[in-house]
Amino acid sequence: MNSRSGISERRVKDLLAQENARFVGDHPRSVSLRERARSSMPRGVPMSWMETFYEHPPVFVDSGRGSHFTDVDGHTYLDMYIGDMSGFCGHAPPPVVAAVTQRVARGNHFLLPGEDAIVVAEHLAARYRLPKWQFTLSATQANTEVIRLARDLTGREVVLMFDGKYHGHGDTTLVILEGDRVVAEEQGLPSSVTGVARIVQINDLAALEAALAPRDVALVLTEPVMTNAGIIHPDPGFHEALRELTRAQGTLLALDETHSLVGAYGGMSGELGLEPDLFTIGKSIAAGVPLGAYGMTEQVAQLFAPPSAHILASGVAIPEIATGGTLFANALSMAAARAALTEVLTPDAFARARALGTRMADGLEAAIASAGMPWNVSRMGTHAYYGFTPTPARNGIEARDNDNPDLRALIRVWMANRGVWESGWWLGPTVSVAHTEPDVDDFVGAFGRFLADAVA
Ligand SMILES: Cc1ncc(COP(=O)(O)O)c(C=O)c1O
Repeated sequence: MNSRSGISERRVKDLLAQENARFVGDHPRSVSLRERARSSMPRGVPMSWMETFYEHPPVFVDSGRGSHFTDVDGHTYLDMYIGDMSGFCGHAPPPVVAAVTQRVARGNHFLLPGEDAIVVAEHLAARYRLPKWQFTLSATQANTEVIRLARDLTGREVVLMFDGKYHGHGDTTLVILEGDRVVAEEQGLPSSVTGVARIVQINDLAALEAALAPRDVALVLTEPVMTNAGIIHPDPGFHEALRELTRAQGTLLALDETHSLVGAYGGMSGELGLEPDLFTIGKSIAAGVPLGAYGMTEQVAQLFAPPSAHILASGVAIPEIATGGTLFANALSMAAARAALTEVLTPDAFARARALGTRMADGLEAAIASAGMPWNVSRMGTHAYYGFTPTPARNGIEARDNDNPDLRALIRVWMANRGVWESGWWLGPTVSVAHTEPDVDDFVGAFGRFLADAVA
């Protein structure tokens, strides 16, 4: 743990215990709902990891509107975490509420295409510069499908990712580096996952070149700017070299913009002028209604050519790329995506939110400077991350080394106790298109008051 933050470890631990106790005391109904839920759900939550997502008991939510949500104990929070980016449209955006309401009333799922799917695919093609699109229910599933496409196209199995990444909970991506070895990140995965993944440090071109040299890598899967261990920006020239190396070695390149799409209207790949073969996305594209999507070049799209014969019997091998699923691309998700993409996540909304993102990052920097802390702030459009060292991390190793999980947990719960919902250690605050100048100023003000309290 990094103890160079300028706040003593003792002070952090004392304040953390005090703030966690206050949080529990202030949330009797959430605590009692979790106790009731223990008899029907492992660990008393709908996804078991939610129990220890935060160091205090989980909060049960009642409702949300715009940049705020309210819990079952009646506390209203300014939401700077926005559901790990899935709430980038704001809570209950009116165009999506209307579209979803109308769609449900007219039937929401048929396992047949509707016109909304065409509008959404055309929109994604224009916005993210790849011509052909397919749909899933989540970004995890989009990444899973893209990995299959790359394996089928290249006849190779290995997927290369960068340390500090997160690309969802598909088997192939749930691996991490332990020293120089790739190991499973969690339990329940086949031991074979470690043999089909390679992980290197971003911004290390020599390591990347060596990892691609055996010509067994089907796909490099990365974000244009890494967002799951704080913000890690690629060095100037890194992406150009990555593209050149992947082309030279016959490896496909997929950019995962599930998070980084919040950085700019055309995504961070648009900002950086990148040219991937495949592109994955999810979370906020349908305002949090489940939908994932993947885009591809015309060349990759050839893989979807119809099979030579129709085989409809179970137990017979099908000469077709393996993709799912019954609820993928359902009419409800498509109606939500059409409204979200064309009426909520507009160029104007991005321009406004990006200006607020700059205001937020400037405000954080000013608060840090006035408290005399040796911290840095990195930026990605509407999103920011404060690190507890003078300069930002350049790769996954530095990101872990620089972090101080107790301090970040303290900042989060301290803010939650004062009506501001901050993210966990991996992300940092984001301005949604529903946030306002007073919201940003409230957040920065709370952050400044935290610093004054912590260094007192
Ligand atoms: C970059 C990235 N890709 C994919 C995912 C997976 O998204 P989901 O959990 O919605 O499938 C995440 C989730 O945090 C992510 O950060």
